[in-house]
Amino acid sequence: MNDDSDASGESVLIEVAAALRSLRGVYDGEPIDELDHALQSAGRAMDDGADDELILAAALHDIARSPALGFPGDCAHDREARDWLTPRFGERVGWLAGAHVAAKRYLVATESGYAATLSGQSIATLDKQGGAAVDAEFTGHPSWPDAVRLRRWDDAAKVPGAQAPSVDDVIAVARRVRLAVTPTP
Ligand SMILES: [Fe+2]
Repeated sequence: MNDDSDASGESVLIEVAAALRSLRGVYDGEPIDELDHALQSAGRAMDDGADDELILAAALHDIARSPALGFPGDCAHDREARDWLTPRFGERVGWLAGAHVAAKRYLVATESGYAATLSGQSIATLDKQGGAAVDAEFTGHPSWPDAVRLRRWDDAAKVPGAQAPSVDDVIAVARRVRLAVTPTP
């Protein structure tokens, strides 16, 4: 865990809110910006009955695109998200966010018709991400079924004008996760 001194991690929550808000107006070849994509992903996870850690991972899976975080913007945004999230919200949140590219590669490899449901941008990045593949490093993990669920919410969270939770709603989830994963002194 982060070694910030405030037990509830308010400084982390402020950092996450700023990172999310910095995604307004950031586009990655999709019809909605990265903030709406993050919020719609969280909303789909909520609607599907996901637990708090999974909702948070859905909301923050593309957080490495945030200009506020200063990552270089290459194709490693899944691993960057994992490495940024794990010390702040624990192993599972980081792992789930870090698995969203592996889950896309897996679904393309194993589910007929899945590739046809992907956006043009998602197809365009598939080759750079290594193409269709079943990666045992991911598929053997106990949270793999949740990583696949997250991927489906990710794919569906690209609808202009769709209803979604607010940044404050996501921060409320993040606060609960922090309280659950941060050891009490
Ligand atoms: Fe995404």
